[in-house]
Amino acid sequence: GGEAWRPLLAGAWLLWLLLPWASAVRRSDFPESFLFGTATSSYQIEGAYLEGSKSLSNWDVLTHLPGRIKDGSTGDIADDHYHRFEDDVELMHSLGTNAYRFSISWARILPKGRFGKVNPEGIEFYNELIDSLLLKGIEPFVTLTHYDIPQELEDRYGAWLSAEIRRDFGHLADVCFAAFGDRVKYWATFNEPNVAVRKGYMLGTYPPERCSPPYGSCARGDSGAEPYVATHNVVLAHATAVEIYKRKYQSKQKGLIGIVMSTTWYEPLTDAPEDRLATERALAFDVPWFLDPIVYGDYPPEMRQLLGSRLPTFSPEERRKLGYKLDFIGVNHYTTLYAKDCMFSPGCPLGQETQHALAAVTGERNGLPIGPPTAMPTFYVVPEGIEKIVTYIMTRYNNLPMFITENGYAQGGDGYANVDDWLDDQGRIQYLDGYLTKLAKVIRDGADVRGYFVWSLIDNFEWLYGYTLRFGLHYVDYQTQERKPKSSALWYKRFLQSLHEAQ
Ligand code: NOJ
Repeated sequence: GGEAWRPLLAGAWLLWLLLPWASAVRRSDFPESFLFGTATSSYQIEGAYLEGSKSLSNWDVLTHLPGRIKDGSTGDIADDHYHRFEDDVELMHSLGTNAYRFSISWARILPKGRFGKVNPEGIEFYNELIDSLLLKGIEPFVTLTHYDIPQELEDRYGAWLSAEIRRDFGHLADVCFAAFGDRVKYWATFNEPNVAVRKGYMLGTYPPERCSPPYGSCARGDSGAEPYVATHNVVLAHATAVEIYKRKYQSKQKGLIGIVMSTTWYEPLTDAPEDRLATERALAFDVPWFLDPIVYGDYPPEMRQLLGSRLPTFSPEERRKLGYKLDFIGVNHYTTLYAKDCMFSPGCPLGQETQHALAAVTGERNGLPIGPPTAMPTFYVVPEGIEKIVTYIMTRYNNLPMFITENGYAQGGDGYANVDDWLDDQGRIQYLDGYLTKLAKVIRDGADVRGYFVWSLIDNFEWLYGYTLRFGLHYVDYQTQERKPKSSALWYKRFLQSLHEAQ
């Protein structure tokens, strides 16, 4: 009894999807100097995994192991962007975007890390990409590493578990600033290190597939210290790169350097005070775990309180390095989830993603999703979430400049019979319209957000989901490598043209 209204609600979401988009948001709602672009990453689009003297990355190795990727696929070819980057720059140009966020394949630039030479073919590839972007008036926004690292560093010393990685990362940064910094004015050290650590060292699903109980269980891992050690090395690797940029390059090259974080907004599952506290913990154990040390020199008090000496400490020399901080915060934002207490309450786990905060997260309350679901199981459409997470970050970090470095919508699952079904992506248009509307609002309310990038320019390799999920504004036919604009590409183009239109 009392549940007869549920199908009605499901119907409402269907209606939401079918409604013609009565676009509210306009380009002119954002500052003129705003960057509007699209985003990609090296492993997800480049392919050419054995070309140009590149070495194997940790993701090349993982995808070639049996049973790891949903459709059994790899990034060996992906979007063949390595050979087709000029066509892809043309797609950006036809959208009317003025920026493009991409990442460097570390294994292309330094196949053996600091134990070998700089690879001129790697440098040449990114030089050509950068030059063709600038020729079209598109600002390159470059991530130094987006999950993929040379396997060499894993094999030699265990990658992020070793302090050695700080020197290797510093070397990569130095080489990139020297080679590309005359033309690249936006640098991000890392993409979503909070996800890389959670999935690589807690849940064991991303390279190097290590687990820390009770978060996950697998063959490799330890008693629970590894995620904190890995984060410590990420934070200090970031600091090493920023120190190099600030001391050697910034006064001449005049760029900005920051870090890109995965951000989820959390709402308490119930009004109970325990769930409210759990929500605060879920938030603090995610972005501030990395950003508090970078901005304030130490891990969040919320984490210290719970974890005590399990959290590493920073030496005076490390604190000095951290003093270089960062120039901006990159915000990847897709969804909002509920958080539920696991400290005082029975009934855990609901999910295991943030159990180190003793909070369980879920997208559903009483069997009802927090917003319209998408093809990505953990992503729901909750446009207010972007306003709330930007406000949270703005408040915690004193309104440091922000860029929305990713935001986007996954298609996939049943109901895609032919190409036209993929091309008619009304759900994505609704999503982008909703999130941009809330982003414009929070900027009006004083947030210093300076750019926005749609994930993604083209359909690509979606990690463990392989090619089963499509995030692109352009459809990719993986047989022919043909790109076709979806309805959302035309929508984004028209949105970008509305800069000088009357309100
Ligand atoms: C975040 C990651 O940075 C990107 O690689 C991924 O494809 C998107 N989110 C979508 O899941």
